[in-house]
Amino acid sequence: MDNSLFLKACRRELTERTPIWIMRQAGRYLPEYQAIRKKTDFMTLCKTPELASEVTVQPIDIIGVDAAILFSDILVIPEAMGMGLEIIESRGPVFSDPLRSTRDLDRLQIEGVTERLGYVVEAIKMTNEKLAGRVPLIGFSGAPWTLATYMIEGGSSKNFDRAKGMMYAEPEAMHRLLQILADAVIEYLNAKIEAGCHAVQIFDTWAGVLAPNDLEEFSLRYIDYICANLKTGGAPVIVFAKGMRSYKRISEMDCDVIGVDWVSDLGKVKQEIGDSKALQGNLDPCVLLAPQTVLEREVKRILDAYGDGPGHIFNLGHGILPPTPVENAKFLVSCVKELSIKQHKTVI
Ligand code: CP3
Repeated sequence: MDNSLFLKACRRELTERTPIWIMRQAGRYLPEYQAIRKKTDFMTLCKTPELASEVTVQPIDIIGVDAAILFSDILVIPEAMGMGLEIIESRGPVFSDPLRSTRDLDRLQIEGVTERLGYVVEAIKMTNEKLAGRVPLIGFSGAPWTLATYMIEGGSSKNFDRAKGMMYAEPEAMHRLLQILADAVIEYLNAKIEAGCHAVQIFDTWAGVLAPNDLEEFSLRYIDYICANLKTGGAPVIVFAKGMRSYKRISEMDCDVIGVDWVSDLGKVKQEIGDSKALQGNLDPCVLLAPQTVLEREVKRILDAYGDGPGHIFNLGHGILPPTPVENAKFLVSCVKELSIKQHKTVI
């Protein structure tokens, strides 16, 4: 497994081509996923290892990506802390009783979170059996700031007024919550690695809504703390914080790969951070809705932006969108597999 293209690229070792996987690759754009979701609600799917492992393997078989990512959701951690969660078709995730004050933090069940997430360990073992060594398995977690926004807002949000409201009005309460979450994330990711995940990714989807000072104090500082305290046993750690204007701070963390969204140019990020980390990204997910000629042109643009040499993992800059035609997802994977060979010829 150590010789897989994906893990080698995470370690910046030479490969014959650029590996690719797609954020949210197990999901609603796949009719095979929808067929299972028709019969099962989202949380039941997450909590049933037989089904979660089946859905995890679907994109390996159907679109041919180079890594699997365990089917689950970042919000299983707050759910395991006792917050009632439902994923509603047109609204996304909804918490029945969001955190609104310092006092609400006392109702979080902090002890035993990882034990209550035991279904994830089972799903990892079953997935690795189904994968039979074909590709590595990535485990993931939300970052404390992103998890906190959902727990406070009660779901998705446009302006993050309640989460930022708590951050500005009651910074101690916010720090208490973020620290609780950071410790839970460390334990959870360690358990995932121990159960058989070959790499882990930390998603901070909403880091980019914070002003520079707040970004450091309420988001990046906690990701740094998580990276510093993981027991990886050599499993690469990927940090994906969306909306960064600079990747310098993340490049100083004890992680191996930096996820980049489409707003940045990969070549410029490489220049900014030097050779210390591999980079993952960064196609705009909307390009997958365009004609294949456009898709091919944009794939080339990204491969060229990264340039020659190892350490690039192709991905989207954020999750794949539900209306994406499966044919285009397949075409993207084959484009990257074919077109990236020349990026590696000169150095191999
Ligand atoms: O990458 C993968 O294929 C693994 C599965 C995965 C899901 N969610 C499945 C999912 C991963 C890695 C996530 C992460 C996640 N979940 C994030 C961070 C990454 C990102 O995309 O920003 C966030 C912010 C969430 C919270 C969440 N869960 C939202 C906002 C939604 C609703 C939006 C949507 O896409 O429907 C979910 C539900 C969810 N998580 C679905 C899936 C496949 C759709 C639910 C369904 O099947 O109806």
